This record gives sequence, structure tokens and C-alpha cells, in this order.
Amino acid sequence: MCGIIGILGNRPVSDLLLDAMKRLEYRGYDSAGIATLEDGHLARRRAEGKLKNLEAKLAASPLHGHIGVGQTRWATHGAPTEINAHPHSTHLVAVGHNGIIENFRELKDALLAEGRVFVSQTDTEVVPHLVTKEMEQGATPIEAVARTLKKLTGAFALAFVFEGESDLLIGARKGSPLAVGHGEGEMYLGSDAQALAPFTNRITYLEEGDWVVLRRAGATIYNENDKPVKRQMIISSASSLLVDKGNYRHFMAKEIHEQPDVTGHTLARYLDLATLTTKTPQLPFDWAKLDRLVITACGTAYYAGLVAKYWFERYARLTVDMDVASEFRYREAPMKAGELALFISQSGETADTLASLKYCKSQGLHIAAVVNVTTSSIAREADVVFPTLAGPEIGVASTKAFTCQLSALASLAVMAGRARGTLSADDEKAMVQALSEVPRLLSEALRLEPQIEKLARRISKSSDVLYLGRGTSFPLALEGALKLKEISYIHAEGYAAGELKHGPIALIDEKMPVIVIAPFDHIFEKTVSNMQEVAARGGRIILVTDAKGHEAAAMEGIETIIMPEMPAAIAPIVYSIPIQLLAYHAAVLIGTDVDQPRNLAKSVTVE
Ligand code: F6R
Repeated sequence: MCGIIGILGNRPVSDLLLDAMKRLEYRGYDSAGIATLEDGHLARRRAEGKLKNLEAKLAASPLHGHIGVGQTRWATHGAPTEINAHPHSTHLVAVGHNGIIENFRELKDALLAEGRVFVSQTDTEVVPHLVTKEMEQGATPIEAVARTLKKLTGAFALAFVFEGESDLLIGARKGSPLAVGHGEGEMYLGSDAQALAPFTNRITYLEEGDWVVLRRAGATIYNENDKPVKRQMIISSASSLLVDKGNYRHFMAKEIHEQPDVTGHTLARYLDLATLTTKTPQLPFDWAKLDRLVITACGTAYYAGLVAKYWFERYARLTVDMDVASEFRYREAPMKAGELALFISQSGETADTLASLKYCKSQGLHIAAVVNVTTSSIAREADVVFPTLAGPEIGVASTKAFTCQLSALASLAVMAGRARGTLSADDEKAMVQALSEVPRLLSEALRLEPQIEKLARRISKSSDVLYLGRGTSFPLALEGALKLKEISYIHAEGYAAGELKHGPIALIDEKMPVIVIAPFDHIFEKTVSNMQEVAARGGRIILVTDAKGHEAAAMEGIETIIMPEMPAAIAPIVYSIPIQLLAYHAAVLIGTDVDQPRNLAKSVTVE
């Protein structure tokens, strides 16, 4: 994670750096800092915590200068203190870093043995020391960076500014993304095009191992062997608008309420509502010829994939292998060239998902990606991109991206089913009809907010919560637990309802709320049996079901959220609303930082 920015400007850059860092704060908000060249000398301001702390510091003690680098940090090595905040510097160079220098210990030991003094606990601090050492031995800044890069292992993007060098900024990329922005007499570096959008839309993405020397007159890019290379300049569509909260108290609330609209946009991309068919785009693979689909993702996106596994298996009779990317990337799973690997990611920058994608690519698989940020690294690496049209998601807890991922994935499962002959034209019509009702049903579900808010009061007083579900409600139980723990800090677990008696039932007592997600479907009765087991042990049940489920459960002493009736296939999309709202209101009542919960970042660009 972490966001870095560099500006080689022809005007004061301090405010510009801050503006760009606001757009990068989703990558980390443990601390922030900037370094500029004031009258030829490096100067820094850094602050622990959110960007607003740095802003206040700069207001009291401004930084001048037309060239500088900035960084928003998500702490990996060393606590989120001011001392560990970037940029890290010596008397010769200041560096902003995103990623992890994996061999920093041995480098640091060697530098310490030479008498160099370290002040932070970070991995990053070795970088300015290595560059400084080279420069003290006579290397130019460019030579010093080139030599230093050869000594670093790990994943990183780096931005350097040098003492006395008023027309030089250097950037480097290995594993973490870095974009070069081309302005009018100005040049920029940024972790993404979004950060650079207020300044320019002319962007060059550095490739793996590339490093770049920026002068106001332009950029020279070198590959990992230090050979000058040409990289394409593209016109980015990233918007310079900073999204606001509208009338909502939090971005998360706004994004929950946007779901009827954004799922509608996403579905319209894949479905033809006039003919009730799926649209069939040109694809680099044939659904009918696939023996297996490999789906990989992290966190909430992984749970979207887990729901999709049920859909692809049922509607397309396609075997699905599903894994979290952090495990998959090192599993060396056997793959067959020509199979399809599907990666799901809101940001398109998640390091583990990207590494898994690269593994599958190396094995000759077709690469498809369901992504929200279509300019992202994952989108750019994929053979085919299935976009989700959720718009920018700012709240760290994913909500609208999840339901848009589900909308796209359900459409793809139907498309695959048709192509494979496992769904008839009538089945397709029925599925598309059902999917077309998602936006309306989401709106209806949102009307349950006052009741859900009341239930959240009880949840907010609990220290542990259990979520249960079967079938496609099982991944939803996992997602419900994730949502609650990440924003309210209440311990929660999601379980397949049938697994309860294999262990977790021991946790049940009268203090334990158990949220059961169970639309009335072919396995509803099974879930009712599990609820009876919970009730018999005094557990406090909140059942999320529909009117038929409410009637069929016929249990006393439980709370029920009664959802609108809907076809079972789309329930996981619509039932996302109560679990999101429950987590949101519990967190608001507890008073946590809902949009930027502790220890998290929106985009996880380290493994
Ligand atoms: C949870 C959440 C995370 C992300 C995960 C993957 O609310 O947002 O679990 O889903 O970090 O991120 P992307 O989708 O950007 O790859």
C-alpha cells in the first residue's frame, strides 16, 4: 500500500502535492509527509495519522519550493509514528516509498557497520542511505539510484528528490505501480493516474523493473538493465473530481445507497433488457471449450467469487477452483494452458491478486478480470476486462463494488451457461428478468434501514457475533462477518450453517447474537434446523429472510428482517443490503472511523 507522488513543477508544489495525496489516501492513512527543495535545500514536514494532520502542520509551517515528493503511509515496518513517516532522507536525498524492501535487514546491518545512523524502524530508510553512500563516493544522483536499485529486493515504487538538483526527479518501479505524468513544462510521478488527474491526463505507466529520470523538458525511461526504453503514453480517463459525501454522514452510507443505481449500470453493460438476453462480447476464449474456471481474489472480492462459484457450477456446469490470492500465488497449483483464470478486484491493484494473475499468465491461461478501476494494473494485464460500473468507492469497507461484482459475475455465469448449452433460451430469459429486478429490490431492501438500525444497537453492545448461511448465503455470512469486524472492531465469524455443530456451536450462549441469512429456498429447512440448535442453547437469533421464510421458520423469540420476495438466484446481491447496514450502524453507534477504519487501507498493494 502507501501512495507516492512527485512533482517537478514550475510553481510552488506543496499544495499540489497535498491535493494529489488526498486522492492517494485510500492507499494508507497511518502518516503522511512531503519533502521539497527550498532554495536548493531539502526540507520536510511529516505528521502521524491522517493527511489533515500534515495539512495543519504545513499551514503553521509552510514548505516552499517547485519540486518535491510526498507519501501517504500504511505502516508495514515500524509503528505509524512521525519518525517512521516518509519521505525518508539524508542530507543528499529524500525518498517516498510504496512497497516492501525485503532485504532491508542485511542492507541496514552493513550500513550500520559502516557507521551510518538510522533514525526510523522502517525498511525504507536503507534506500536514501544507499543512494547517499554512492553519491559520497562520487556517483551522480542518476548513477547512485541505478546502482541502489540493483541492491534492492522486494516490491517497491520509489520517488527521489535530491539536494541542490532543482530539475531532477527520479522514479522507479518493481512490483508496485508507478505512473509518469507529462504536463506543460512540468512532470509528475504518482502511484496512480487518479492522483495526477488534476495536473495532466497524459500518462505513461512504468513497466516492471523500469526507472525514470524526469526533467522539466521530459522523461527518460530505463529498463532494469539500464537501457533507455520507449513506453507508450496514453490519455487517461481518470477524473480530477474529488468525490464528496453528498448529504450522507459517511462515504460508506452514500455508497450503500448508490447500489440500486450502480448495479443497474453494471447489469446494463452485460444484459439486453429488450430481448432478455445476455450481451455476447468478443472474447479471446470459448466458454464451451473450458473444462475449468480458476477464480482468485482477496477479501470481499473473494467472497463475490465464492458466490460466483455456485452460479458457474449451477448455471454453466463449469468446475470452479477458488482460492484467496495470497495462498494461490505460492501454491504452484497445476494449470493447463487454455483454461480460464478470472481475477476479481475493486482497485485492480491488490498485490496478491496481481501476482496470482501473473502466475496464471506464465502458465498460458486466458486471463479475465472483473475490475472497477479499468486503468489499474490488473485491468492492464488481463486479456479481457469485465468492468463493474460502481464508480469510485471511497469507504474502505467495500459495499457497492461487491454488489456490482456479483451483478457482473451473475451475468457472466448466464452468458457461460448459454454458450455451453447448459441453460436454455427460456432459462436465460428468466435469469435476465430476475437480474433486471435487482436495482428495484435493492431499493426496497434499503427501506428496511430503520429496523436494521435498531437491531444494530444490540449488535453494537456485543463482543462476538456469528453469521450463518447455506449455499450462496454462506459467502454472504463470511462477508457480513468481515464487514462488521473491519468497521466496528467487533469480533465476528461467518460459518456455513451446516458446519455449526462441528465446533462453533460451543461458542453459543445467551450473549451471542447469531445472524442467519436464509432466503426461503430449497435448503431453507436445513437452515431452520441449525437455528433450532442455536435457540436450544440460548443464542439470540436475527433471521434475515422473506415473508415465506418468516412463516415457515415459525420460531418464537427471534428477530426477523423480512426481505422482499425474489428469485433465489439474485438473493445474494439483494441480501447484501441488510448485512452492510447492520455493520454500518453498529460502527456508527460505537463511534469508530467508519470510512477509514484503523489499520486498514483501501488498496492493498503489499503482500
Ligand atoms: C473489505 C475490503 C477488502 C477488499 C480486498 C480486495 O471490505 O474492501 O477485503 O475487498 O482488500 O481489494 P480489491 O477488490 O481492491 O482487490
